[in-house]
Amino acid sequence: MALKDNSSQNRWSSRWLFVLAAAGSAVGLGNIWKFPYIAGENGGGAFVLIYLVCIALVGIPIMISEVLMGREGRSSPIHTMRILAKKAGRSQRWALLGWLGVMTGFLILSYYAVIAGWAINYFWLTANGTFDGAGGDFVAQAFTDLQADPMRMVAYQTAFMVVTIWIVGRGVTAGLERAIQWFMPALFILLVVLLIYSFNSGGFAQGWAFMFDLKWDAVGPEAWLIAMGQAFFTLSLGMGTMMAYGAYVPEDARLSTTVVTIALLDTVVAIAAGLAIFPIVFANGLEVSQGPGLTFVTLPLAFGQMPFGAFFGAVFFILISFAAITSAISLTEPALAYLTEEYNAKRQRVAISLGVVCWVLGLGTVFSFNIWSDVFVVGELNFFGFVDYLSQNIMLPLGGMLITIFAAWLLPRDMINRQLGISSPAVSWAWRIVAGILAPLGVLAIFIYTVWPLIQNLFNL
Ligand code: PFF
Repeated sequence: MALKDNSSQNRWSSRWLFVLAAAGSAVGLGNIWKFPYIAGENGGGAFVLIYLVCIALVGIPIMISEVLMGREGRSSPIHTMRILAKKAGRSQRWALLGWLGVMTGFLILSYYAVIAGWAINYFWLTANGTFDGAGGDFVAQAFTDLQADPMRMVAYQTAFMVVTIWIVGRGVTAGLERAIQWFMPALFILLVVLLIYSFNSGGFAQGWAFMFDLKWDAVGPEAWLIAMGQAFFTLSLGMGTMMAYGAYVPEDARLSTTVVTIALLDTVVAIAAGLAIFPIVFANGLEVSQGPGLTFVTLPLAFGQMPFGAFFGAVFFILISFAAITSAISLTEPALAYLTEEYNAKRQRVAISLGVVCWVLGLGTVFSFNIWSDVFVVGELNFFGFVDYLSQNIMLPLGGMLITIFAAWLLPRDMINRQLGISSPAVSWAWRIVAGILAPLGVLAIFIYTVWPLIQNLFNL
């Protein structure tokens, strides 16, 4: 095994570029099609407040842990775990945590590419005016047709994978940084354009009320778990992405403020996405929903009814595609960094091989919507359902819990204090309590909450 220090080759050119790259990873499909709806349905402004608490007490401590471990190890997550376990005098088996991250990244990317492919396809459809003046049945049928057409889905999935692999193959500076410098400002501009459009749509007050009215009676214990799960997924935690990106963070960047900035950007985009989307839905008297239904049926229908809808619809789908690509880039980094280090291989070659494996895995997701829709892997989960459940509900929380426990309790305290610039023992203890107890307990709660129905099902409880 070649445990080489690649610290001199790979480094973000500035702290700000790291902020943009990490925000690019964080801002993805989760912000656009999930957050706004779960906020509206689970208490509006009350949910937003709960979510902010979860970001602060669970999300930020876990992200700081990942980034500090990455910067200390200066390698891919697998090698970083080996290096840190050695420094801390712990078992080398902790490297398995790095492996878990690599596998999770693979699984998530395999279906992320398929769904991002739909967004690219919808960019063309909306830009061509396909949905102009269309009725609900037509728009719903268009989405059903896409899902029933494996060839079309594979074509767009392939296009998305090729662009992602091309970017990551070029390396940190020429690939990741260059792409992020283009995509992120473009994403912010597109979002502002949509916000202005929404503001004038006639449904803004209703959209605002849906997202921000303090509906405390709609808040149950479940809202806390949903908020925590969302905080975790949206910040790309638990699979070593932030550890891999952390390995390239300059020595003099302050981790705490940097991570808080990333989390803030992610939250602002999630809220802005809601304020851009819901007024358009309400202005057309449509029902709110989430996920694919919202993105690929409700919104095209709404855009089809509005003046300049084809243009703004196209803006919306480009926005989603950009958000997905900067997340996809980050999903490859743990595996890519590992293989490049381990085999001293060319990044481009490794990227292509990874891309092919991921693409093949993604075919399983494509077929889950048509020819394999009734092929069940476990219980009632078909291939896509299974990969989605396994990666998001089991592997990510498990990884996140172990990462924070390792970072807070097993790493030498002086290492943590040096990385975080902590000098007072009181702050050092406070850090342990938040990152070592509160955050893992929060993740444990989500884990039990999501896995419990599965256990009940499997054992007929
Ligand atoms: N944060 C992304 C989203 O909200 O869509 C998803 C994600 C990307 C999760 C990268 C994990 C990851 F490593």
